[in-house]
Amino acid sequence: MQDVTDLAFMRVIARYGAPDFFFTEFFRVHAQSRPEKHILRSVTEHATGRPVFAQLIGESVPDMLRTVRELLAFPVAGIDLNLGCPAPKIYRKNVGGGLLRDPAKIDAILGALRSAVPGLLTVKMRLGFDDPANFERILELVNRHRVDLLTVHGRTVKEMYRGEVHYDLIARAVQLARCPVLANGNITSAPRAAAVVAQTGAAGVMIGRHAIRNPWIFRQCREQFAPRTATGEPAAGVFQPTLADVRDYVDRLYSATATPGRPERIQVARMKKYLNFVGQGVDPAGAFLHDMRRAQTEVELFVACDRHLLVDPARRFAPEPYPGVVARPNREASFETCSLDTGPVRPAL
Ligand SMILES: Cc1cc2nc3c(=O)[nH]c(=O)nc-3n(C[C@H](O)[C@H](O)[C@H](O)COP(=O)(O)O)c2cc1C
Repeated sequence: MQDVTDLAFMRVIARYGAPDFFFTEFFRVHAQSRPEKHILRSVTEHATGRPVFAQLIGESVPDMLRTVRELLAFPVAGIDLNLGCPAPKIYRKNVGGGLLRDPAKIDAILGALRSAVPGLLTVKMRLGFDDPANFERILELVNRHRVDLLTVHGRTVKEMYRGEVHYDLIARAVQLARCPVLANGNITSAPRAAAVVAQTGAAGVMIGRHAIRNPWIFRQCREQFAPRTATGEPAAGVFQPTLADVRDYVDRLYSATATPGRPERIQVARMKKYLNFVGQGVDPAGAFLHDMRRAQTEVELFVACDRHLLVDPARRFAPEPYPGVVARPNREASFETCSLDTGPVRPAL
């Protein structure tokens, strides 16, 4: 996830149980682009022991090919094509989710990528732009170009991150695609992952925002999917974090994401981006979110954390987000990139 799953976050997540593999933030590909150094660091320095796929977003075939050649010099597990980013600034350039309107272009890009990538070529897509009219046609292209792994976020671009995920269409992709399919969208917990895998027949799940809220989710999935006892329970049990564990996570996030010389208020703002999600599991009234959002300094931020996380440290961190406690009230429509940043938008493509 752009501006989230960077090197620091990957290292923190790995402390609590890494996923089977990672996908980088997207590398922007255009005539003047060079692979962004900070994203390359998440490929070369993560030390999580897990494979990392490099994700590309763009539409120019020659620039894609040049970028692939550059990236293949690094220890990437494979190349992933973004066909899903719903931010208007992105899709208006006919990249990311914007490409879903143009299957012929996808055909050309996938053909070129397939010929340039000797190893694993993967695709991350939404169901369509306005509607899923092109969905099956694009799945045919995924087959024709021998894509190795497909992740489907079960919403259209226009649905952004809102509303129900259309798991029935992910199940359709599982039927039609010749490669393994990962189900994506609102995988909020390990039991939810198991339910979605059962419903769709997917080979696995991709987890985005809920790994920010709950960094134990990958460990919990591993335990959930482990062999069962005679009574049907996960044999190893499933880890249930407490608020004290969450306090530990906040500490680690703060140190891992702190950059020497960065002003304190910027670091506090960066932490709020993560804590907006964490707060969905702290209390049902959203009191932690309310207090945390008012903090301006490191001290104020940690006072708010201690007040809500250490008063009853043995209390269980909610396994699902509390209903009605939202990560970014009223902000979603203003997404200008895929970013959660509330600050200025990064330079466009
Ligand atoms: C802040 C943010 C940044 C994202 N950046 C990317 C990205 O760079 N590449 C990508 O394929 N998806 C990106 N996504 C989409 C997620 O990968 C995922 O498809 C979506 O959030 C739905 O899954 P979830 O409910 O597990 O979060 C981003 C989502 C968010 C909220």
